[in-house]
Amino acid sequence: MKGHAHGKIILIGEHSVVYGHPAIALPFKAGETRCRLETHSEDRITSPFYNGLLNDADETFAPIVLLIRTLRKALGIGPFNHVLESDIPVGAGLGSSAAIAAAIVRAYYASANVSLTDALLFKWVQYSEKNAHDNPSGIDALTVIHDHPWYFTKARKEPLDGRLDAFLVVADSQERTPTRDAVRHVASQQGTYRFNAAMEILSKRVIDSKAAYKDGDLLSLGKAMNQAMEALFSLGLSTKKLDALIKTAKMNGALAAKLSGGGMGGCMIALCENDVTARKVQNALEKNYGTRTWVTRI
Ligand code: MEV
Repeated sequence: MKGHAHGKIILIGEHSVVYGHPAIALPFKAGETRCRLETHSEDRITSPFYNGLLNDADETFAPIVLLIRTLRKALGIGPFNHVLESDIPVGAGLGSSAAIAAAIVRAYYASANVSLTDALLFKWVQYSEKNAHDNPSGIDALTVIHDHPWYFTKARKEPLDGRLDAFLVVADSQERTPTRDAVRHVASQQGTYRFNAAMEILSKRVIDSKAAYKDGDLLSLGKAMNQAMEALFSLGLSTKKLDALIKTAKMNGALAAKLSGGGMGGCMIALCENDVTARKVQNALEKNYGTRTWVTRI
């Protein structure tokens, strides 16, 4: 039996969303994770990131291992060889951990022939995310299981639709910091002037972005994204490589560019008004940094 899930892109509002502020996230359909369950004598994982018995997987896979054990118990099925395939880069801020969890949960429920509501799937993915990092807002869990954008706060989740017609270039910095560490880095600044100022800016710019998204106002959205990036920078979430990718994207015509996801590495997104500019930005990023890129229409 099989399950799958796509990735996610946080357009704006990462980190502040952990503290109850809003954020906007979009499905990242260029990247998908698939899980196939094959009957086996013992639980094992076959994947690009780990091959072996479930019991032998190291700490890095603890959230997946725990999820599988809990699902096995809850549904009373298995053991399985869990064959995982993914074209979402791991640890890059594109929701790979949530997508892996969602694909596994879907495969289990399909195998057990038990119906799975979106609300229950969200709970399972959020359970796995909680094991992966201390304080997940839930935005990743929600976005990887739905096909549309969200305007999200912890308290309220609204599907977002609008008249925006634009392109995003996504570029992988190839640097990695676990989301847990980036979230802790921000948490360590709580109570400082810098933290409070950054939260206020992020919150306001997300509200502006929601209006801009609905009205199809690209310039205002771009302005809000650039200001959000300045706030994320002030919290120490950028890196020299991300700064360089952002500069290159803007020099080649992007209206805005910022990190997306946990930061301190991971991915950069650049907002472009048309396909021609998006391809120009993509070529410049690939030529100068040999980085993996995707172009997606929003
Ligand atoms: C990670 O994709 C986004 C963060 O805001 C953490 C979270 O919302 O759980 C950094």
